[in-house]
Amino acid sequence: MADLKLKINARRFSSPYRSINNDLNIQLFLHNAHRSTNRKNSNKPSSHSKQHDYSQDKIKNQYQLQCIIGVGGFGRVWKVIHKQQVFAMKEINKALVLLKQSVPSIMTELKFLTELKHPFIVNAYSAFQDTQNLYLVLDYLSGGDLRFHLGKQRKFSEEQTKFFVACITIALEYLHSQKIIHRDIKPENLIFDNHGYLRITDLGVAIKKHAQFPQNFETSGTPGYMSPEVLFRQDHGIPADYFALGVICYECMTGRRPYHGTRKDIREQMLLKQVQVNMSDWSPEANDFINQLLLIKPQQRLTQPRTHPWFKNYPFDLLASKKLQAPYLPVRKDNFDKAQILIEDEENHQIIKLNQHLIKDNQHLFDDYRCQINEKSRRSSITNKMFFQLF
Ligand SMILES: Nc1ncnc2c1ncn2[C@@H]1O[C@H](COP(=O)(O)OP(=O)(O)O)[C@@H](O)[C@H]1O
Ligand SMILES: [Mg+2]
Repeated sequence: MADLKLKINARRFSSPYRSINNDLNIQLFLHNAHRSTNRKNSNKPSSHSKQHDYSQDKIKNQYQLQCIIGVGGFGRVWKVIHKQQVFAMKEINKALVLLKQSVPSIMTELKFLTELKHPFIVNAYSAFQDTQNLYLVLDYLSGGDLRFHLGKQRKFSEEQTKFFVACITIALEYLHSQKIIHRDIKPENLIFDNHGYLRITDLGVAIKKHAQFPQNFETSGTPGYMSPEVLFRQDHGIPADYFALGVICYECMTGRRPYHGTRKDIREQMLLKQVQVNMSDWSPEANDFINQLLLIKPQQRLTQPRTHPWFKNYPFDLLASKKLQAPYLPVRKDNFDKAQILIEDEENHQIIKLNQHLIKDNQHLFDDYRCQINEKSRRSSITNKMFFQLF
């Protein structure tokens, strides 16, 4: 049993489930992309004959690769140095993106990142590409992700968990104020800085609740963290992110998640009973907080964590200005699992090798994936044009 639990903890969920509506999105995207490529190249013999842009290769050469710090569903994440500053660089392989029908997701992620900036999220600075990959330059966080630390620690104390939840709450409040629902809140997407503060990353399946598209029935996210309304393909919004926060809290408290198995298994468990925690070594307020977040009905779920008695008198102002001493510090030098990285990297490598042909035929779909993000562009969102092509 102990072994099984260890395995569950150590297992990473690197690829979120992307919605079945992505089929529709990709069709729309392909349609629009063909239209725009045809328009751009109307005087040229073929819409696929766009010359390779060597200036983009030069951009990559300006970044000194240090080491791989993570692997995601689309490729490696590097620690890099650029003009004497350290950044993280997410390498997003085009073949993997095409195979997973995720062109709209990565375009949307870039579009959101050009608009957002906050000390509790991982911010982006630039995006460029070469023939094989897209590159996204981000804040570098040296503390490793919460999955890695959960694997090492097994559980966290109430005080530590409260600090994590408070950091995630500040980040979620910001995203939600921008009408963005993250939809993939899980330990892999929460990264520590060197002072023990957590930040949210990976907007790969995030959506914007748009006045014109108020309803959303897709199922996106990672089973185990997906809210019931998402799993049952019902309209969902902000409460879905708070359900995931409840799962993380439960995991920090007990060392395991409340629901296990496939999407179908989890759906069945949810129909059978409402999960409830009652841990005697944690305060009644903490138990109630978790139970409120894990409520099956989104209308009844807690969506304003700060107002809950568990956070009574919590110094959110000090936390927001990063003046609180974090109760858990990622002290190790290498805060990532090298063996796991090697396995995932090799898996990706094999898939990429088999799917090279996809890149050749669809290179033009990535034409707009490039930008230098500065304060002005964050405000005016230079990629609006690109975003509206998607929907
Ligand atoms: N900015 C960063 N700083 C440090 N590590 C990071 C950073 N971004 C990502 N990572 C690591 O790389 C992993 C994969 O990155 P992520 O953006 O989540 O990719 P994916 O969208 O494929 O899941 C994360 O789980 C984390 O461990
Ligand atoms: Mg991720």
